[in-house]
Amino acid sequence: MLHTFFFSPSDTTRKYAKAMTDAFGGDSQLIDLTHGPCEIEYDLVDGDTALLISPVYAGRIPAMAADLFRQIDGHGMKAIVAVVYGNRDYDDALLELADIAAEDGFEVMAAGAFIAQHCIFPNVANGRPDASDLAVATDFIKIAKESGKMEISTIKGNRPYKKPGAVPLRPRADKNECRTCGVCARECPTGAIDPVTLATDKSKCITCCRCITVCGSHARKFKGIMYATVGKIFCAQNSKRREPELFLR
Ligand SMILES: Cc1cc2nc3c(=O)[nH]c(=O)nc-3n(C[C@H](O)[C@H](O)[C@H](O)COP(=O)(O)O)c2cc1C
Repeated sequence: MLHTFFFSPSDTTRKYAKAMTDAFGGDSQLIDLTHGPCEIEYDLVDGDTALLISPVYAGRIPAMAADLFRQIDGHGMKAIVAVVYGNRDYDDALLELADIAAEDGFEVMAAGAFIAQHCIFPNVANGRPDASDLAVATDFIKIAKESGKMEISTIKGNRPYKKPGAVPLRPRADKNECRTCGVCARECPTGAIDPVTLATDKSKCITCCRCITVCGSHARKFKGIMYATVGKIFCAQNSKRREPELFLR
């Protein structure tokens, strides 16, 4: 059986998780960690495999996701690890996730870095994952399923991992467009949005863009000169299409 653990505020990692799980074949379950510890019972037994898949934030696994992945007990089962990043770079994130899986007690079989539309600057890798991305990811999972234990040190990245820089941008609600339905507050992974006033607590917001993804009236967005300026430079620097990178035995 395959147990797929994923964290996915803006839903691109979820797309990869679903496609890879379907391609693995046989019994499987998707375990969504986006809102904290999962409520689904999972019990890894002999012969099972886990897929741990996470977005990349500032070249690392988001701290909230890393804490949740650390709570999984692998007790000798196989694991495949994957990260999804917004076409800039994944830096040390894939190595970090493989290290977490090994510390959980998994035997890491394969690792892959995949690309998706950047949730903060959606003009970068716009529309990805596309059909080609998903074909690579599904082929990868089929090969990884039959693989032996890999050497984690062959995964790109450095230890100590890079220090994640703070992202100074926060989405806000446009008052004219907001219908005050409160879905943003209910869906925010860190509880940063007040359910009554819908104001964002900047100290809790991790800029994950969940509020933008779930807002049916497109009221939640990034605004301001800083966003426009940084966005222009970021898009220019990261417009060249990057391709998935796979690490197997
Ligand atoms: C706070 C933050 C930091 C990010 N840092 C990076 C990064 O270092 N490199 C990169 O290529 N993409 C980066 N991204 C883009 C995400 O990795 C990308 O949009 C990913 O698809 C998000 O996954 P999700 O849709 O499952 O939430 C960052 C996104 C956020 C919100």
